[in-house]
Order: sequence, then C-alpha cells, then structure tokens
Amino acid sequence: MDFSIKAFDSTKAGQAGLAHAKTECLVVGVFEQQPLAGLAKALDVASKGLLARMAKRGELDGKLGSTLMLHEVAGWSQARVLFVGLGREDQFSPKGFNEASRAAARAVLASRATDALWTLPQAAVPKRDTAWAVSASVLALRDATYRFTQMKSKAEPANTALRKVLFAVAPDDLKAAKVAARHGEAIANGMALTKDLGNLPGNVCTPTYLADTARKLAREFKLKADILGPKQIEALKMGSFLSVARGSVQPPQFIVLKYEGGAAKQAPIVLVGKGVTFDSGGISIKPGEGMDEMKYDMCGAASVLGTMRAVAEMGLKLNVIAIVPATENMPGGRATKPGDVVTSMSGQTIEVLNTDAEGRLILCDALTYAERFKPAAVIDVATLTGACIIALGHVNTGLFSKSDALADELLAAGRTTGDTAWRLPVEEEYQEQLKSNFADMANIGGRPAGSVTAACFLSRFTEKYEWAHLDIAGTAWKSGAAKGATGRPVPLLTQFLIDREAR
Ligand code: BES
Ligand code: MN
Ligand code: ZN
Repeated sequence: MDFSIKAFDSTKAGQAGLAHAKTECLVVGVFEQQPLAGLAKALDVASKGLLARMAKRGELDGKLGSTLMLHEVAGWSQARVLFVGLGREDQFSPKGFNEASRAAARAVLASRATDALWTLPQAAVPKRDTAWAVSASVLALRDATYRFTQMKSKAEPANTALRKVLFAVAPDDLKAAKVAARHGEAIANGMALTKDLGNLPGNVCTPTYLADTARKLAREFKLKADILGPKQIEALKMGSFLSVARGSVQPPQFIVLKYEGGAAKQAPIVLVGKGVTFDSGGISIKPGEGMDEMKYDMCGAASVLGTMRAVAEMGLKLNVIAIVPATENMPGGRATKPGDVVTSMSGQTIEVLNTDAEGRLILCDALTYAERFKPAAVIDVATLTGACIIALGHVNTGLFSKSDALADELLAAGRTTGDTAWRLPVEEEYQEQLKSNFADMANIGGRPAGSVTAACFLSRFTEKYEWAHLDIAGTAWKSGAAKGATGRPVPLLTQFLIDREAR
C-alpha cells in the first residue's frame, strides 16, 4: 500500500476543495451530538442537505467506531464517501482515534476502492499532533491488511483492492506528516516481520531460521550480524543457555545484530529477545492442550528483530544492538532434568527445578553477554510467564525495572503508541523465593508473583547497567478464532528509540 500526504487547509474554501477531491473513497470523521462542521458541512451543502436529514433520522450519529458508506451521491465528486464516527468531541482521545481508524480501515478495505483520501488526521486529538494521527492511521491500515498466507498451498486472493491512501493535513503540518507516514510505514514493516516470524510454525521457524532472518536483515539494511553456533556458545561458557538446548536436535544460535546510526562512541541501547522457537516445557513437559501456541515463544526475538528493521528503515541516529538467544526447549535423552545444576556465563550456578522455566535460563546468559557493549540501557523482551497473563490479561505488557527513569520512558512510549505496558515490582523481598539448597539460586520461585520472581531472577544478571524487562506473554499473540501474532511490542520499542534519538 502506498501512502502520501497532501496539504488542504481547514478554511471553508479548503474544505470545499476537499469535498470535490477526486478519489474512489473519501474518508470523513464526524463527531457525535454535534452540528455538521468542516468537510461534512461542505458535503452536506453539495448534496442539498442530505447529511443533515440523515443525522436527524439518526442514520449518521457519529458514535465512536461506527461507519456509514454512501455511494454515488448527487453533487459529490466521489464514487464513495465513508463517514466514521469519532464519538463525543468532549470525550475524544487517542484511543478513540485509533478505534475510529481501525473501523474506517476495515470499511475501506471491504469496499472495492483502489484509492482513498483519508481526512481523519484533521480531527484534533487531545494531547496529540497531526503527525501522530498520520502515523497511527498508517498502522491501523497496515494492521487491517496484514494476512499470513505463506503456509497455504494455493495463492489466496488479496483481501483488498486498496492500493493508495492520501492523507489530507493542514499546510503547516505537511512536513511533519510526511516524516510520520514514513515512520508509520517503517513500524508497520517491522511489525509485519514480527508477525510473520511468530506465525510461522516451529518446524520452519527454527533457531537457524531466526539466524538466517538476521543475516538477511543485515544484508538489506546494512546492519552487522554476528551469529554464534553451539561451539562458540560453549566457548563463552553459556552453560545456562546451553542447558535448555540439550534436548533438541536443532542447534542453538546466538544472534547479535548491530545497527550503527549514532556516533561511534555513543553507548548503544541493547534489546534482548527470548527466542524459544518451540517450548514443549522439556522434561517438565507442558499439558497438550494449546501447546501449538508455544511456537510463539520466540515472539520476544521476533519483536527485537522487527524493531531493528523499523529503526534501520527510519535511519535513526542511534546505536542499537539486538541479541537473540535462540533454541528449542524439548525433552530427550540428553535433556536437562529437574534438579540439574548449571553454571551460567556470569559464574552463578542455577538449580533447574522446572525445565519449563527456560526463558530466564537463556536470557540470563544473553544479559551477561550484553555487558561487553557498555550499554546505555538494556531492555529484554520475552514471553516469559503464564502468570503475567493472569496479572495483566491481554491488554498490557508487564514492565519491570529498578530504574524509575527508564520505566517511565517505556511507559510513555507505550501510551504514545497505544501499545501499552503496566509496571510491576522488582523488589528484594521477592528474591527470597529463589533460594536453592544446592546452587546459588533456583530457576523458579513458586506460584505467588510468578512474573515478579522471574524478573527478579533476571535482575541478578543485570547489575552492570540500566535494565528493563518486558513480559509479553499476554500481548504478543491472540488465541482463539483470531489466532495470530500481534506485532507487539514493536510500536512501544520503536517509539522509545525515536524518543531517545530526540532527547
Ligand atoms: N513460555 C512460557 C510462558 C508462557 C506460557 C507464555 C503461556 C505465554 C503463554 C514459559 O517458558 C513458561 O513455561 N513459564 C512457566 C514458568 C513456571 C514453570 C515457573 C509458566 O509460566 O508456567
Ligand atoms: Mn517454558
Ligand atoms: Zn517459554
């Protein structure tokens, strides 16, 4: 889909110009319980009061997320005009804008229109600018068009005829809106990569496949990829990471992908993504029901690779490094057993009381490896605990950090993009639950506060830098009829990096 921007002013003459713009589908926002204004008013005049009459009958009520498509109306220049309800103006919010955009995207895609003139960014969103509205619109449109068809034997017809979207903005906003559309597309491309990797089955998306994806990104976007295989991982003494890989026939891969957009001496931001390409639980095997969804256990890895793609496409002036420990977690004759004690790269020993708590075992060695980059901050992203779904559901990503400043930055990036996180504690009091009679620590802390003790475990490997942990167990994919990866938290991470570049 092709996005472009055109300036139309909000004066009466400008709105009249918009009302006569040539497009297969004009997309117009209308507020609830309000007299027709702006573009809607201009269209009403051109159609001799049609809209006023419809509004009076309650057919055009402006309810948030409602849509009304009118075809070939006398006096209008377009084959279709789509009216999108924005809700009550005094209650309008960024969330409301996104809801309206999603509804509008669905309606435009369902029509046969090949192009659309999208005027929603003209509605002032409280606490947001036009550039935000443009980027949010791009994301809504691209999200609605995404489909995963790679594994179907026959090519499926596209779900839309829509090829071109033109955004109408005020002349003063033209420049910022162009940048925002480009950023929106970069984020959408990153999210599409993240969704594809997540949706691919475990027999295709193996640790080697993730490594090849990183190599391909490096070629396409001038990144540097360093991929370490089993021998090199062993040489680094990553005994904890390797203990998870033991049961699998697939060789583990340790992926390092570097984007150098900033000055050489500028400390990098390091993103660490959990890359368990299938989590059977290992010897502590999971129950069978829904186990297929454990192909999504590499969504942390997929999101940091998607974020790297977005950052590279945007050309941010920052240094960013992605680290992905990638492996399967499988049972087998060589697999790690409950009670085994392993030695992490940091030298700390771990009693593996449950082989299904494997995410932390691979992340801890990646977090130790990250020290060598003297990072400005390290953020790990992981489908780490079922307990996080119990705590926060599928709405918020769990955020853990001992640094209030870093936590606040990430929370703000989540609010900006609507890809939200909620902070949970990482306090010393919980560390007690990780006591082991036989090693420096156990890899599980019991049922109470399972997500917190997982974060506490990770915190023991992050003393040398500022660190935050995102538990995306509830937000990385959807189950049920709409089963599929969401692309989260690519918007949050990318916005965090955009904000870092600007500070
Ligand atoms: N990948 C899972 C966490 C998970 C489960 C994410 C379901 C999303 C949906 C992780 O490796 C795991 O198995 N965690 C265990 C930890 C427990 C053994 C302490 C869990 O959450 O049950
Ligand atoms: Mn597990
Ligand atoms: Zn897992």
